[in-house]
Amino acid sequence: MTNIHIASATAPVNIATLKYWGKRDKVLNLPTNSSISVTLSQTDLRTLTSAATSPTFTSNKLWLNGEEHPFNDARSVQVLTHLKELRKKLELENPALPKFSEWYLHIVSENNFPTAAGLASSAAGLAALVVSIAKLYQLPQSYSELSVIARMGSGSACRSLFGGYVAWEMGQLQDGSDSKAVEIAPMEHWPQMKALILVVSADKKDTPSTSGMQLTVQTSELFKQRVDVVVPKRFKEMTQSILDKNFAKFAELTMKDSNSFHATCLDSFPPIFYMNDTSKKIIKLCHHINTYYNETIVAYTFDAGPNAVLYYLQKNETKLFNIIYKLFEKLPGWKSDRANYKQFLDQYT
Ligand code: PMV
Repeated sequence: MTNIHIASATAPVNIATLKYWGKRDKVLNLPTNSSISVTLSQTDLRTLTSAATSPTFTSNKLWLNGEEHPFNDARSVQVLTHLKELRKKLELENPALPKFSEWYLHIVSENNFPTAAGLASSAAGLAALVVSIAKLYQLPQSYSELSVIARMGSGSACRSLFGGYVAWEMGQLQDGSDSKAVEIAPMEHWPQMKALILVVSADKKDTPSTSGMQLTVQTSELFKQRVDVVVPKRFKEMTQSILDKNFAKFAELTMKDSNSFHATCLDSFPPIFYMNDTSKKIIKLCHHINTYYNETIVAYTFDAGPNAVLYYLQKNETKLFNIIYKLFEKLPGWKSDRANYKQFLDQYT
């Protein structure tokens, strides 16, 4: 019988509501500020990864969404080296264990959403890679400990180790061992929170996040104010708004933080533009909707690209969707029910 060992794991996409932007250590992926995210439901956007190892494998191999890719990018190799070191320690402690640390790996990874749609796929991908190999290697590490390894692969990946409401604590130590993800609250704490993704453009972003961050750190004056003053205060307030299930506060902080992050991008030199005119119209629309209902029912946030993620509470879904349906009904992907939006449109379009 062929001696092949396999383990699988899924990891969901997470979308930051308090943005990570800036590295204090490029090699270890240590951030200049703590961040917060909401992890999307596994049924919506997730990566499923299987890791296999065998003494018969002759090289490391990787298949992404059915296509073979070279398994040699520096980030994944760094992550793999770490996991192998942990497995090696385990094998030394327990010599009866098979020598997985000396065998090659085959990795098969698949997203249940289009990888090229400009959504945060690398975070889910790296997180699923780490957890599947950790399972295969039977590592005793906690999710927070594994998040330290995922972080080295892609900063935001560390937050995809947890469901629900997650903080990435920036940490203080030089070796990065305290720069890890922790749960603020599980999804069941506030299950009424929903996310709607508006794919404005599926194009690849023109400034990758790593080079964009470096440019901002080196050139933006606004950035210093953001990391020293704005984010530490916002981190505490946003954590509290989640614990209190205070949507109005959470939404205000989320929108302000997205704006603050994009402002530091604009303040970089030369400036970085991630949002386009459609993104800006979506921002205006969200503010119009909140004004119209005289209540904060929706929050927007934009990562390093033009696509919008809208957060809202389940009870307001019909109110929000009726408007969104109307405005985007000509685009694919909608089943419009046309009720209840006329009053809004008369006023704002
Ligand atoms: O983890 P990276 O290198 O893909 O950077 C993520 C940066 C943002 O998505 C803009 C913010 C965040 O906290 O996820």
